[in-house]
Amino acid sequence: MEKNTILVTGGCGYIGSHTIIEILRNTEFKVISVDNCLNSSPDTMERIEKITGVKVKNYNVDLTDKKATLKIFEENQDILGVIHFAALKAVGESVQKPMWYYENNMNSLLSILNACQRNEVNNFIFSSSCSLYGNVAQLPVDENTPLSKTESPYAHTKKIGEEIIENIIHVNNINAIALRYFNPVGADKTGLIGENPINKPSNLVPVITQTAVGIIPKLTVFGDDYNTRDGSCIRDYIHVTDIADAHIKALQYLKDGKNTDKFEIFNLGTGDGVTVLEVIKAFEKVTGQKLNYELGPKRPGDVEAIYSNSGKAEKHLGWKTKIGLDEMMASAWKWQQTLEKEKS
Ligand code: NAD
Ligand code: WQD
Repeated sequence: MEKNTILVTGGCGYIGSHTIIEILRNTEFKVISVDNCLNSSPDTMERIEKITGVKVKNYNVDLTDKKATLKIFEENQDILGVIHFAALKAVGESVQKPMWYYENNMNSLLSILNACQRNEVNNFIFSSSCSLYGNVAQLPVDENTPLSKTESPYAHTKKIGEEIIENIIHVNNINAIALRYFNPVGADKTGLIGENPINKPSNLVPVITQTAVGIIPKLTVFGDDYNTRDGSCIRDYIHVTDIADAHIKALQYLKDGKNTDKFEIFNLGTGDGVTVLEVIKAFEKVTGQKLNYELGPKRPGDVEAIYSNSGKAEKHLGWKTKIGLDEMMASAWKWQQTLEKEKS
């Protein structure tokens, strides 16, 4: 049987859903998803169907359940590769509930790797994070930049996750790639799907769009005296569709056997550092909305500036970002307006 199905874990979540859409738009692969909707809504699959015309099956299974995970592989003998997005991802929450983060993120990773190993599914992509780099001495950061001590249990699950994958695939036929995302933002160009935080958001862009529609009364810019061009922090914001596209390129790269090592790591960023105030200005410019914001104290744990050198992904995967800051803001706004319309 020709293996032609991609199993996406966390397919009801933000990046997983956008990746499924890009796979369906741009490749011949079939897709199945596994997501217990711990941090997402089961109606995501209906949104994906509306956009692509394809009904994707989601298994509502907790990936920490090894038996249930194995059963999915037994039912689907044509899985070519796994893109493993499923994880808990809130940095602050992970400090409050470390046990939950370690149990969920580590056990689901072990369970899915076990299922891959037993079923000869040999292509594995892992969602990693720029949070591994922490405070860095030199910018931009590339894959050889030394990792600092992780600042949160969440970041630690990514660090251990990469190490677990490297150790485990050393003794089987799996080849793996860890993609370290910088700051994914924005929404699909249709405006019919996007980031939909179940709880009060803490990430900048959903805070901006929710402030613009009045759900959040006022945005606080965390810190105005950093050593940056306008005093606010610098990050590398990257459109979620560009991130999705990198996963397809990474899968194809493994499928074609182009990898030189069994485990490879790539940064995913635009390479441009942008300040918080510049993001706000871009939002106001492209949407015509005046944002209610104030300058406030620093947020504990924030690094002053971080942005990526993504030359390695460009060179090896043939991947480059296509979408700029204005479109990131416009698409996030379009999605927020869809959510508002759905409420009324
Ligand atoms: P998300 O919360 O929107 O999606 C993750 C999905 O995984 C959710 O739908 C959740 O229900 C599911 N899930 C969690 N634990 C599960 C389990 N045990 N069994 C089944 N499903 C489970 O998050 P996202 O923003 O789409 O992030 C996807 C991945 O990318 C995560 O691994 C995250 O750590 C990583 N990442 C995200 C960012 C970001 O800023 N969004 C940045 C870097 C890395
Ligand atoms: C961006 C900038 C804030 C909210 C986090 C995780 C990281 C990765 C990406 C998962 C910062 C400022 C924010 C607000 C603000 N996720 N800000 N007011 O902290 O760079 O990275 O998401 O792997 O691990 O830590 O993203 O969107 O929270 O913040 O001024 O209300 O916006 O200080 O400079 P962050 P963020």
